[in-house]
Amino acid sequence: MTKKIDPRKYDVVVLGAGPAGYVAAIRCAQLGLKTACVDEWTDHNGRASLGGTCLNVGCIPSKALLESSHLFAKAKKEFVEHGINVADVQLDLDIMMARKNKVVEDLTRGVEGLLKTNKVEWIHGHGRLIPGKRVNIKDRVTDKTIDVLSAENIIIATGSSPIRLDRANVKGGYIVDSAGALEFDSVPARLGIIGAGAIGLELGSVWSRLGSEVVLIEAMEEFLFSADRIIARAALRSYKKQGLDIRLNSRLLSAEIKNKKVSLVYEDAKGEHSETFDKLIVAVGRKPNSDRIFEDEMELVAGERGDILANDYCETSVPGIYAIGDVVRGPMLAHKGSEEGIMVAERIAGQHASINYDLVPYVIYTHPEVAWAGKTEQACKTLGIPYKTGVFPLAASGRARAMGESEGMIKIIAHAETDRVLGVHIFSAQASELIAQAVSAMEMDATAEDIALTMFAHPTLSESMHEAALAVHKRAIHTKN
Ligand code: FAD
Ligand code: NAI
Repeated sequence: MTKKIDPRKYDVVVLGAGPAGYVAAIRCAQLGLKTACVDEWTDHNGRASLGGTCLNVGCIPSKALLESSHLFAKAKKEFVEHGINVADVQLDLDIMMARKNKVVEDLTRGVEGLLKTNKVEWIHGHGRLIPGKRVNIKDRVTDKTIDVLSAENIIIATGSSPIRLDRANVKGGYIVDSAGALEFDSVPARLGIIGAGAIGLELGSVWSRLGSEVVLIEAMEEFLFSADRIIARAALRSYKKQGLDIRLNSRLLSAEIKNKKVSLVYEDAKGEHSETFDKLIVAVGRKPNSDRIFEDEMELVAGERGDILANDYCETSVPGIYAIGDVVRGPMLAHKGSEEGIMVAERIAGQHASINYDLVPYVIYTHPEVAWAGKTEQACKTLGIPYKTGVFPLAASGRARAMGESEGMIKIIAHAETDRVLGVHIFSAQASELIAQAVSAMEMDATAEDIALTMFAHPTLSESMHEAALAVHKRAIHTKN
């Protein structure tokens, strides 16, 4: 017979310690709430590791490898333009991977420290909500209950997992998901990727820069469907030039492992095609982790996508139970989850926080980077919003030229009558940094004229934002209007 465990009482229990959950827990504790955070993540060394997908197998390790591979490609191909001759640039993949692992370990330990400093109790194990606002925690290995917590408020932040394809089962280290693609121990000569979305493009770039021949099989006819068209077209041209072979409108029929290779068949408008790859990455989106986290009789309805239904304040159908991050509607992005965590913590503490879901910044960390926030031109057309646009090409920026980063553009969309900035779309080096000023401007309801009247330091990439705002009023200085 299992021993009955008396629940320990908290103001808030957070289930999941990814960027949504750990941020929520810290903010709750800052606001004086007695808080526990339950998380089951174990890294490949068997260490309980905080930070969820983002820190362990997502944002952070992918950016570490993007940075390393970018430097490698730059040293190989671009240093010479600067008059720097590096005779024989060699790749040491083991060191590159070890550096990536060290970045992850340092940051996940950093989260451990933050929870401790803020007096959030961290419990390692699999949590499941049971009626009466309690969380039952089991040891993942023994499947035995190790703790039961009860709380006035529960925040579900269980994140998401890669979508699996029956036609391309993740298997044997040959067909892998995004986590597997961060762990290759050698550079695959030919790498196939199903899905030319954020993961396909970022990890495709990493391995292409390190020497793989990369083919991306994408179901959609339109590339980067949610991005502004002019940006998507420029990005597609650039990626193709870099060697990414992106095949749109292509439907996967089968993928099998044969003789230590992956044999793949797909279909496009011209018929069926066969390909052989050394490795295949499946990157076709992620699904919310809503299975097995609450008892069926609890009225926490999972939506059609498997997400937990929640309103704009992340309140579920059960009072006192909230859901944030990838497990609820909206883009599956770390910063969106973190902001939801802060909002929920503050609302539990009686404050009136809210989120502007219209201004979530999106970034794809290729080189150049794609970044945008607000409305696209196609959305303005569909919604019947009158608009005007200003575009500034990076080729006309002195700083971009000096840096050897003159590819791309910044586009600003403003309301035709009020001049309010409705959307900003960037394809350029450091677009991930440039987009922040656009989000701040839009958050403060800036007009294109407000940006045009602001003084920017010279020479900077940011000046291109200034010029794009001037271009909205057909008075850009360094390009044709
Ligand atoms: P997660 O980070 O998934 O964390 C959920 C946590 O809950 C996990 O630790 C999990 O173990 C735990 N958990 C789940 N169920 C239970 C349970 N029952 N009991 C206990 N614990 C449980 N986003 C960006 O914004 N920028 C990027 O550059 C970026 N790059 C990415 C690159 C890759 C390769 C991938 C895969 C994703 C990337 N993302 C990026 C997306 C980002 O990782 C997610 O949006 C983010 O991690 C979601 O945060 P979360 O806290 O909701 O969930
Ligand atoms: P995604 O939704 O970005 O892209 C998946 C792509 O796969 C889509 O273009 C889709 O049309 C295609 N696809 C779906 N089924 C297919 C099939 N059967 N055959 C061929 N193509 C198919 O999802 P991805 O890249 O897996 O990333 C998952 C999530 O992680 C995203 O929601 C993203 O927000 C997040 N992420 C964010 C990053 C960032 O912010 N820089 C980086 C990486 C991931």
